[in-house]
Amino acid sequence: TIQQVRGFELLDSRGNPTVAAEVVLSDGSRGFAASPSGASTGAREAIELRDGNAKRYFGKGVTNAVGHVNGELSDALVGQAAGDQGEIDRLMIALDGTPTKARLGANAILAVSLALAKASAASSRQPLYRHLGGDRTPVLPMPMMNIINGGAHADNNVDMQEFMIVPVGAPCFSEAMRWGVEVFHSLKALLKGRGLSTAVGDEGGFAPDLPSNEAAIEVILSAIEQGGFKAGQDIALGLDVASSEFHRNGFYELASEGKRFSSAGFAEYLGRWVDAYPIVTIEDGMAEADWEGWELLTAKLGRRLQLVGDDLFVTNTGILRQGIARGAANSILIKPNQIGTLTETLAAIAMADDAGYSSVVSHRSGETEDTTIADLSVCTAATQIKTGSLCRSDRMAKYNRLLLIEAELGQSARFAGRAAFPRSLP
Ligand code: PGA
Ligand code: ZN
Repeated sequence: TIQQVRGFELLDSRGNPTVAAEVVLSDGSRGFAASPSGASTGAREAIELRDGNAKRYFGKGVTNAVGHVNGELSDALVGQAAGDQGEIDRLMIALDGTPTKARLGANAILAVSLALAKASAASSRQPLYRHLGGDRTPVLPMPMMNIINGGAHADNNVDMQEFMIVPVGAPCFSEAMRWGVEVFHSLKALLKGRGLSTAVGDEGGFAPDLPSNEAAIEVILSAIEQGGFKAGQDIALGLDVASSEFHRNGFYELASEGKRFSSAGFAEYLGRWVDAYPIVTIEDGMAEADWEGWELLTAKLGRRLQLVGDDLFVTNTGILRQGIARGAANSILIKPNQIGTLTETLAAIAMADDAGYSSVVSHRSGETEDTTIADLSVCTAATQIKTGSLCRSDRMAKYNRLLLIEAELGQSARFAGRAAFPRSLP
């Protein structure tokens, strides 16, 4: 039985307030979780409730959301059986009463939802990934590590948001991490040697000014080689174009290159990159409003590589269903706070599975030390995680949690490996 629900206003990795919650059960088990926060948010995401009081935290305070945890949510949940996560999540959704969780706040509801799952796991004396996974065999995900940041996550001139390395040749999770870290340090030395900035963006990736978006790919390829790895075979590339951020009046505008494309033109542009570079995954290659562009891009490249919908799907089964019907993308990014409960997050992964879409579990650019997504990536059929670069503890906490899960599983630890990318590697 749920005995206590408490909310807290904590601070995230960007120094902005965020909601955390603790759930205590009658047997004394406790769960604690914090909501993350995006910067390049999708227009259709669940609503993050902020106070808007300019006198506190420039309007970003979350005392109202925390008040809802301590008030309405606590009142509704205390005394309820803790065992049925779906039931509690549905109760919170009904209590909120809006389609976007705008009244109580998705940041409030998600913190409680995740804290409840952790309390239940503690009560059953199981790690979270076991508690949530049931009979399913745990699988360590392929990490996609974002080592150059641009777009809304950095103050450099790079238009595209994330340039990721994907150690497709690594035999296990810890080796994938080592390979990634070695490339990260090689990249730092390389940038430094060229007199470029080694300061990092919101997700811990380097954020130098570069002559073009393609230059980010070129410098990463050099870092892969300098680290002693083969680009493509050992370490492939992934992009989050986050193109909704530079889609204006129906055109894709790359300010750093002074270029402007129609949807078809931009699909051609990305297609040339796929021909030239070992790219295995592209997220938000088209903008959230550009369904026709998505259909076009998927028809053109969808058999060759993973096309992930983030802003497009916002972890929402209603929108994902439309996308599947229209043949838009072949993969979904999974961010629990885009939808606001654990149950709905798991439903999005299940729907993707059924449709043959892959799932990529993801952090937000504003994070905390909370590591729930690491367990989530292991217990579900998701075989990939993206949780930033290889520095900053808000990012490393998730990777470290996965390293500990791998150690805990020992000989029985399975790694998604290359099979996470069923489409042919370039
Ligand atoms: P966000 O970025 O958390 O700022 O939305 C992450 C992403 O776009 O994948
Ligand atoms: Zn994204």
